Order: sequence, then structure tokens, then C-alpha cells
Amino acid sequence: MNGKTTVISQQQLQQQLDCCNQINIWWREQEITPTAYVETYGCQQNEADSEKIRGLLIESGYAIVGEAEGADVVVMNTCAIREHAEQRVFGNLGALTHTKRRHPRQKIFLCGCMAGQDHVVQRIKKSYPHVDGVFSTHHLWQFPQMLLRILTTGKRTYFVEDEPGSIAEGLPQQRDSQLKAWVSIMYGCNNFCTYCIVPYVRGRERSRKSEDILKECRQLIESGVKDITLLGQNVNSYGKDLEENIDFSDLLRKIAEIPGQFLIRFMTSHPRDASQKLFDTMAASDKIAKQLHLPFQSGSSRVLKAMNRHYDRETYLEKVNYAKSVMPDLVLTSDVIVGFPGETEEEFEETISLIEQVRYDPLFTFIFSPRKGTPAASMDDPTPKDEKNRRFDRLCAVQNTISEQIHNGYIGKTFLCLVDGTDKEHLTARTEGGRLVRFTGDTNLIGTFQYIKVTGATTWSLTGQLALPMDNG
Ligand code: SAH
Ligand code: SF4
Ligand code: F3S
Repeated sequence: MNGKTTVISQQQLQQQLDCCNQINIWWREQEITPTAYVETYGCQQNEADSEKIRGLLIESGYAIVGEAEGADVVVMNTCAIREHAEQRVFGNLGALTHTKRRHPRQKIFLCGCMAGQDHVVQRIKKSYPHVDGVFSTHHLWQFPQMLLRILTTGKRTYFVEDEPGSIAEGLPQQRDSQLKAWVSIMYGCNNFCTYCIVPYVRGRERSRKSEDILKECRQLIESGVKDITLLGQNVNSYGKDLEENIDFSDLLRKIAEIPGQFLIRFMTSHPRDASQKLFDTMAASDKIAKQLHLPFQSGSSRVLKAMNRHYDRETYLEKVNYAKSVMPDLVLTSDVIVGFPGETEEEFEETISLIEQVRYDPLFTFIFSPRKGTPAASMDDPTPKDEKNRRFDRLCAVQNTISEQIHNGYIGKTFLCLVDGTDKEHLTARTEGGRLVRFTGDTNLIGTFQYIKVTGATTWSLTGQLALPMDNG
């Protein structure tokens, strides 16, 4: 990798759209309307990529269906973050031998973060002969070309060369929701946390131009979207690689200036780069949700150093305290890893004390999973698996008590929420902090902001009723 960002030209993009057109013709000649199924694993970045894959499939004449059975194309958009995620994909991929046997013209693709690892590609080549195509995240924009080649030649195809990464603007996109949207503002990661596979499979950090992001946000808001989540592995590095003089706070402010009633969220913020300027920018705008996902990973400064996180416990806590001081209603969420190689019992207790101090709502908890090729995978790891499980269970128990207490604290309070759907007999809504509230109401409220008073709570969710503003009695 040479670290240079390639911008996909209009001409290159047009070539792909031409492939879509040829695929359309290929099926029409056979008088068939083909179907496609896309299965997504992993994080929001993959959700956003799947929307593009579906967009390209629709452009090629495919109707999107909800299951692999009988589909002409099956795309598995995979995640490599932990071993468990990969095992699930291999299991489900194996099961596709049966769907393909029952529907022999089915073409099966594996893409996403797993496709960025050479050992995975080799395993697919050797042991999964029913997989027709493999493409890494860098090659997503070339999916039409790959699909056309496979349809017309039947040859297994691999687009997996390691590249620093590119930016492809203007790909068709089939969005999952008309109310909420993901907007990737940057791709890749430069941080190389020692446990993490992401920089190896998604390449170097590259920011989209602010004018492209603003244009996309404006279009979304004009089309009725009310909740935009800006995506990047570390949004606080936004702009560092651009010629224009802009940082993430500037970008947030510019998006918030777009007219209309909507909320902006973002993830993920790396604590090292989260600045007072960012927190002040959040505090100053009603359109920026008072929600912050600030993964701390460990409460021990020694472990944080071994993780290559570039902050320590004290600076993390200082940042959180500042953020809370300028945003008293801030909902803080986080990720944490237990059982990092060499983590001692005392260091684990530092993690417990940090969550008791900060009080997240909610916290995403993980047991360390060695990832091939990362530095942590070859670190000395004397702690037995049972002991790691015990720490994990203890962490979850402490967090559940905190979540329950925080949720009980919501009872009696009124929040302005976006009503976003239905859940069997209830309507669902999200508070500005991103918490789910179920309530009874007319379905024509979906897509509007409503005041909802919380009347009940469990560890995981809230129930409420329509209310008047400031009804906090
Ligand atoms: N860019 C984000 C994280 C993306 S991965 C950030 O820096 O915060 C999401 C979460 O998965 C991480 O925050 C971490 O808690 C967890 N994770 C990543 N690699 C892991 C591994 N090898 N084992 C266990 N958990 C891991
Ligand atoms: Fe992984 Fe660290 Fe990058 Fe997050 S910041 S994606 S944890 S390397
Ligand atoms: Fe997984 Fe890739 Fe996201 S490894 S967590 S899908 S960036």
C-alpha cells in the first residue's frame, strides 16, 4: 500500500453503469426478472455498503428479496472483527450449497471485511467451490463488472488486490429507511489499535469532500429523512487528508445549518481526537443529537498503551467530564474489551471502576478475539478462557445494573422523539439519545417528532405515552 487515495472517475463509474445495463439486457433476452438477496454482517459501515450493493443490483434489473432460497444472486457482506463473526459466515456460506443445488443458476458472492484477508480468500478458493465471486471493500464499485463476467463466462472471479483504498462518489444506493440514513463521511482507519483488523481490511483513512457530503445530506433532508448518522471508523480524523481546511466539527456545523427539522448523529469518535471544539459544537446546535459513542476499550492506562490507543484513563475521564459539563443530558455509549492479552485482575477492576464512574447507556462488551496478522494476536496471553468468561459475566452484570438504574431514571420524564416505525402492537420512537421507546398511537405519526413521556422501563427499552412538551411531572 502506498497510502494514496484513488478517486474513482466519472468515466470509470460510467463503465460500471454500462455493465449494469448489459446485465439488464442479458436477463431480458431470457425473459426473466432476476432476484437478489444481500445478507449483512457487522457494523453500520457494512450496512451502508450493502445499500450500495443493492443499488447496483437494482440498477442491473434485479428485484431484492428477503431470503437466499431461490435468489439468482446471493451476496454475503461479511465482518472480520471477531472470530465468532467469521465462524457464522463460514457456517451460513456452507448452507448455501443446498440453496444452490435447488436453484443451480444461483450466483454466490462473498464481500466485505473478510474478503480483505488473504487466508480467507484462500479458504474460499479451496473449500467453498460454490462461491462464484469474492471482492474486498476496495472493489465494491466494480461489482457490476464482476457480476457480468460471471454471468457470461461462468468463471469464478476474485477482486481482492490490496489497495490503499478509493472513494467512489455517485454509486446508486437502495436505502433501507426513508426516515433514517447512514452517510459515510470517510473510509478506512490509520490507527492500528493492536487488536483490530479494520485497518488491514479497509485500508487507509480517506475523507469525502465536504461538498459531496453536504449535497448528499441536503438531498436526504429534502426527501424527508429526519435522522442522519455520519459514519467513519474515527470521524474525528475527518478532513486531515483533504486539501480543504476543514475538520469534523466544522463539517458537523455545516450540516446542522441545512434548513429543516432533523437530527445528526455520528460514530465512531476515537477518544484521542475527541476535542473540546467537538463537544462545544455539539452543545451549540439543537440538530446535533446529544449522544456520543466514545469507546474506551479498557479502564487501565497500561492496557490502553498495549492496545496503542494513544490516551490514558485520566485523559479519557477528563474528556467525558468536559462533554457532560457542556451537555448535561448527554447519552454516552461505549465499547469495551475484556481479556486483552496480559490484562490482570487489577486492570480488569479498573475497567469496572471506569464504567461505574462514567455510567454508559448502553455499553457494548466484547471478549478479546485474536485476529490473524494483528500485533495482539502474537502477544503473551496467559489468562485462561474460563477466567476471561468470568470477567465478562461480571462486567455485564455491573453494566446491567447501571442500565436498569439509568432507564428507571427516565420514568416520568418527557422527551422529543422521532416516531420511526411499528413493533407488533406498538409504535416505536427514538429519544434524541437514541433510546427506544414503545408507545400506543396512530401510525400516521410515523415520520414525525412527538413528545413522549416515559412511563415504564426495562434494562433494554422504555415504554411511554404521547405527552405535551415539558411534561415532567
Ligand atoms: N473504530 C471503532 C471501532 C470499530 S470495531 C473505534 O475505534 O472505536 C467495534 C468494536 O469492536 C471496537 O470498539 C472494539 O471494542 C471491538 N473489537 C475490535 N477488535 C476486537 C477484537 N480483536 N476482539 C474483541 N473485540 C474487538
Ligand atoms: Fe480498529 Fe482502532 Fe481503527 Fe477503531 S480506531 S477501527 S478499533 S484500529
Ligand atoms: Fe466488522 Fe468490518 Fe465493521 S470488520 S465491524 S464490518 S468495519
